[in-house]
Amino acid sequence: MLYGKTIVLGVSGGIAAYKAVELLRLLTKARAEVHVVMTKNAREFVTPLTFQTLSHHPVHTEMFDLNQEQEIGHISLADRADLFLVAPATANLIGKLANGLADDLLSTSLMATKAPVLLCPAMNTNMYENVHYQRNHRLLVADGYHLLEPISGDLACGWQGAGKLPDPQQIFAEACRLLAPADLTGVRLLITAGPTREELDPVRYLSNYSSGKMGYAIARVAAARGAAVTLISGPVALSAPAGVKTLQVTSALEMQSVLNENYAEVDVVIMAAAVADYRPAHKAEQKIKKNTSEFSLSLERNPDLLAELGQRKTGQILVGFAAETENLVANATTKLKNKNLDLIVANDITAEGAGFGSETNLVKLLFADGRQEELPLLSKDEVAAQLLNRIVLLLKK
Ligand code: CTP
Repeated sequence: MLYGKTIVLGVSGGIAAYKAVELLRLLTKARAEVHVVMTKNAREFVTPLTFQTLSHHPVHTEMFDLNQEQEIGHISLADRADLFLVAPATANLIGKLANGLADDLLSTSLMATKAPVLLCPAMNTNMYENVHYQRNHRLLVADGYHLLEPISGDLACGWQGAGKLPDPQQIFAEACRLLAPADLTGVRLLITAGPTREELDPVRYLSNYSSGKMGYAIARVAAARGAAVTLISGPVALSAPAGVKTLQVTSALEMQSVLNENYAEVDVVIMAAAVADYRPAHKAEQKIKKNTSEFSLSLERNPDLLAELGQRKTGQILVGFAAETENLVANATTKLKNKNLDLIVANDITAEGAGFGSETNLVKLLFADGRQEELPLLSKDEVAAQLLNRIVLLLKK
């Protein structure tokens, strides 16, 4: 999502500066080019070496650095930014910017940039509520700066209240939203992700290896592009994406009922979940004991959730996934037709870098009109972005 984007990350001097390290890691993982500017006080909390190592670029600290000025002065730093992000932004920095003061590299670069600026204030709760701070905050919002509100919680200074820097994940999501095209604004998306679990007894279940990463990536990228996203998630070890309404379910039947509740209200459904096809015919009330040398399990079919939606289509665009170990295109084409889909993402889970749990995916896109497209090996975020590009085109038709 951030591939090819240049982000200037300003770090000012607050205890939350340590969270900027994790934020930088998220940004570089998403393949953004990040240049870090640190204030003098920020360097009291975290060393420039940490940021330099993770960004693979020298960290900028001085207004008048003879070595750095040759390459990147404050003006060229400001010019090359697609986004200027400050996390944490102290009360002092907010105050300077709101009043047009520029006395160090970070405040000067901020004044010189024409890029969108995302400020993430973090400070003691009394400072945050202070009348001067609040006035400066309002001024900056009115001047077109983006301010991510701090969250409430236990503060490092011992106080409780507003002033905490949001999680790096949330700042990252906001940065993506600001940099992404807003081409899904007003589009309502329903996405399923992860496995389902079919209970056998109070301690056991049947499930599969789905990690949920692909569905969560689609939800995250779609929200960044302005869509109203509802994510129905089976049990996974991922945190709910920022800006997405996430509904947790366990079994296929639960997923079916939550899908049905939401289906009429949406424009697009993307079924990335690995729904279990069968469930135990009887759920034992007590833990099953190993009394016999052999044990066989009777299973009954779960409904095909996607096929059911396909039968009741009222204009929604339906997208399925086909996880296959053989005859990829033939099997995916059959599913596309049988389930009345507009598009199916065919995925050979035996291919290197593809499938359950991996960070990347290798997919073919098969359309209802017979078109086929093969995507190269991409990160799951990039597969999500490519898939959503195709959905934007389908929505225009
Ligand atoms: N799917 C579904 N309900 C099911 C099974 C699958 O909605 N009970 C959806 C999946 O979310 C996916 C698509 O159907 O989008 C294809 O799922 P897949 O497991 O690849 O195929 P199946 O239809 O289950 O067929 P098979 O297991 O025989 O390959």
